[in-house]
Amino acid sequence: MNIVTTTTELRRQLAPMRGHERIAFVPTMGCLHEGHLSLIRKAKKMADIVVVSIYVNPLQFGPNEDFNAYPRSFEQDCELCEKEGVEVIFHPENLYPADGIKVSLKVDELDSLLCGTSRPGHFDGVVTVVNLLFNIVRPDIAVFGEKDYQQLTIINRMASDLHMNVEIISAPTLREPDGLAMSSRNRYLSEDERNRASHLHETLQSMKVLFEQGEVDAGRLISLGRAKLSDAGIKPEYLEIRDAQNLKPVEQLGDSPARIFIAAKIGNTRLIDNIALERAIHRSSASIAETML
Ligand code: PAJ
Repeated sequence: MNIVTTTTELRRQLAPMRGHERIAFVPTMGCLHEGHLSLIRKAKKMADIVVVSIYVNPLQFGPNEDFNAYPRSFEQDCELCEKEGVEVIFHPENLYPADGIKVSLKVDELDSLLCGTSRPGHFDGVVTVVNLLFNIVRPDIAVFGEKDYQQLTIINRMASDLHMNVEIISAPTLREPDGLAMSSRNRYLSEDERNRASHLHETLQSMKVLFEQGEVDAGRLISLGRAKLSDAGIKPEYLEIRDAQNLKPVEQLGDSPARIFIAAKIGNTRLIDNIALERAIHRSSASIAETML
């Protein structure tokens, strides 16, 4: 495994492989956990060479957010990547010009809902760095987690709007045994907060069960979810049900896939999660009759 810290060196190492080896890219901010490793494993299965970037991107943190405190564990990350058979770790010290980046990408609409409401500029920072990393690595495929579903949707949109020559692959959320979505930020939680944090997934799960039992009114599901959270002493920043494709609000749940999204502060730690609401599609008798003709 090679650890590369400069763009020039990364380009030099990847140059002979281009064209005949399939390059997969897994961008991360480090402090790797099983969730990240599941992305790496998926990348390994789908490509010949896996490049993992470890870069805490200052551009996606707000002025009062945890950029300085964000956990960093580079040596341990390297050991984990080595075990997974990663070929290259890209660990740049800084990706931006000394006088600041003068060109950036801006996401419309999708950036001003869910997490975008409380984190203005966050997704601009994400797409700017991901675009920059794509330009440096030039991967055939790039793997992103559903844990950050809004980020995944935005990156899919960026890749398609800008006709990027990369296939975006999604990977399911890895969870702790009690359902809490794995996250580098979980290590901020005290024991009591950690116990309370499990109510986020528990709430999403019980809303999903009601949906599976036939509840189609999104408002009623949300009220139930809010009541459950309130019993656990949690006031969510948002709890919403949105279309899984375009993230537009959904009122009546039908056959088209929707997702429940939650963000909540547990103590000082802001956690997010989401879950799919999908019912087996029942074909109407008319469409069955059509197929039979
Ligand atoms: P980071 O939070 O380190 O996450 C890197 C990747 O791991 C993302 O695609 C994220 O969705 C995925 N991931 C995190 N927790 C996961 C879990 N429990 N299960 C499955 N996948 C999980 O997301 C970022 O970094 C940054 O915004 C980045 C894309 C690297 C740009 O700076």
